[in-house]
Amino acid sequence: MKFCIFAGCAVRWGVAIEIKIKIHIMTQDELFKILVAHCKEYGFIFPSSEIYDGLAAVYDYGQMGVELKNNIKRYWWEAMTRLHENIVGIDSCIFMHPKIWEASGHVGAFNDPLIDNKDSKKRYRADVLIEDYIAKLEEKVHKEVEKGRKKFGDSFDEAKFVETNPNCVRNNAKIAEVRNRMNEALNANDLAELKQIILDCEIACPISGTKNWTDVRQFNLMFSTQLGNTSDDTNVIYLRPETAQGIFVNYLNVQKTGRMKIPFGIAQIGKAFRNEIVARQFIFRMREFEQMEMQFFIKPGTELDWFAKWKENRLKWHQNLGMGDANYRFHDHEKLAHYANAATDIEFNFPFGFKELEGIHSRTDFDLGNHQKFSGKKIQYYDPETGESYTPYVIETSIGVDRMVLAVLSNSYKEEELEGGEKRVVLSIPAPLAPVKVAVLPLIKKDGLPELAQTIMDELKYDFNCQYDEKDSIGKRYRRQDAIGTPFCVTVDHDSLNDRCVTVRDRDTMKQERVSIDELPRIIGERVNLSNLLRKL
Ligand code: GAP
Repeated sequence: MKFCIFAGCAVRWGVAIEIKIKIHIMTQDELFKILVAHCKEYGFIFPSSEIYDGLAAVYDYGQMGVELKNNIKRYWWEAMTRLHENIVGIDSCIFMHPKIWEASGHVGAFNDPLIDNKDSKKRYRADVLIEDYIAKLEEKVHKEVEKGRKKFGDSFDEAKFVETNPNCVRNNAKIAEVRNRMNEALNANDLAELKQIILDCEIACPISGTKNWTDVRQFNLMFSTQLGNTSDDTNVIYLRPETAQGIFVNYLNVQKTGRMKIPFGIAQIGKAFRNEIVARQFIFRMREFEQMEMQFFIKPGTELDWFAKWKENRLKWHQNLGMGDANYRFHDHEKLAHYANAATDIEFNFPFGFKELEGIHSRTDFDLGNHQKFSGKKIQYYDPETGESYTPYVIETSIGVDRMVLAVLSNSYKEEELEGGEKRVVLSIPAPLAPVKVAVLPLIKKDGLPELAQTIMDELKYDFNCQYDEKDSIGKRYRRQDAIGTPFCVTVDHDSLNDRCVTVRDRDTMKQERVSIDELPRIIGERVNLSNLLRKL
């Protein structure tokens, strides 16, 4: 554990002074454990069915979590449907005709290659074991580069160093070789080769430490259930593993009723379900989760241009939140999903490293073409300008709401030491996404201060999610609001009764400012209104 000095100060204004002197630097592992506990303690995320000992990889959102999640969804929905005149939204059902999943390829190909360790009896995804092995080699290269950077200072040439340093050269060659073998094996569905890679790389089970592996087998990730009251096979339906198919099967309805002209998009937010075997890392990989997906219908042949445009657009949406541009990177796919001719992930720097946050896929006419084939209905676009009819191509953007919640929370969590030794935990959530925007606090519980505070609250609540709190010292109340990420605290004191001014405290700088009560909606709105965030896109 280390501390780094932070030169910050707060302006005195009657109520309390807080001076931040140190930021507690944690290891990523420490951060993750503490974050999970914090999410539970402050009502963001609870393990599902907790009083029955929980249900693996299923989580519930609490009173703070649901507000954060809804704000994220609103930011996405409005960026898609309000800022683009040619994108509209729908809300399709989780249950869909079972043939849809045959047409989409999910019945045949939505599989994970699984392998068991015979000693620990633990089950793993074979490709994840190999990816973890590659990640370890990448970490070794990274460490070597950092050593070089320290040694050579300003004259350090990273590209040359990586090309010539023997450890980097050896590890990078190994990474390329293993990755190639894995991609080829996955593309060819060669399960024996996947096992051979695990044996050749001498990958051991993290639990038992042994290399005593079973063969690799395929496992379908869809959950099934029965429709109606008989249980024969003809009534089997699936819980959707992605929301995208609800968009494809409504393509004609929306295009016709909305008189949409290509290019146009359909957006949807909703639940998806996957029987994930390696369900871990808190809300990163869940069995029930939520997706925000947009299918953009285009003319065949224009897909690579649109793919590049949507890559840029989506990265900007993320960076606009101000969580640090260096925390995002693209990862272009070498192994393409069964429906894609180009694909990339936007990866985020989670506490457990860079991992997929959003996928952008060029899905060609795979889905519409197959639904045409399986349903026997013509699914085409008639271009009134050229007189041609064709099956549109599709660019898809697909992001998990829960992963976005995790990205925001892990990026926001900070522990700071204040002058005098007091500690504060603060969630510096981007203000428009914060669950509570403003806390209204009477300095004491008498002398008419609660009544004035309540009047202020009653005025602000129409525009902002507010909390009223009169319990405990003002310092403790600030700490409670910091811990849930409230951007503003408004304190009502005795002077407020005469001058109609209050003290506004900023969550991040802890600066306090005396302002007129009438100015509050403008001051708070400038920072927290979603429209201002959208305007920057
Ligand atoms: N329609 C395309 C599709 O579903 P995907 O890459 O499988 O593509 C898209 O999923 C996004 O959904 C991912 O980038 C991730 O954010 C989220 N996601 C996928 N599986 C998830 C899971 N088990 N738990 C939480 N989020 C998940």
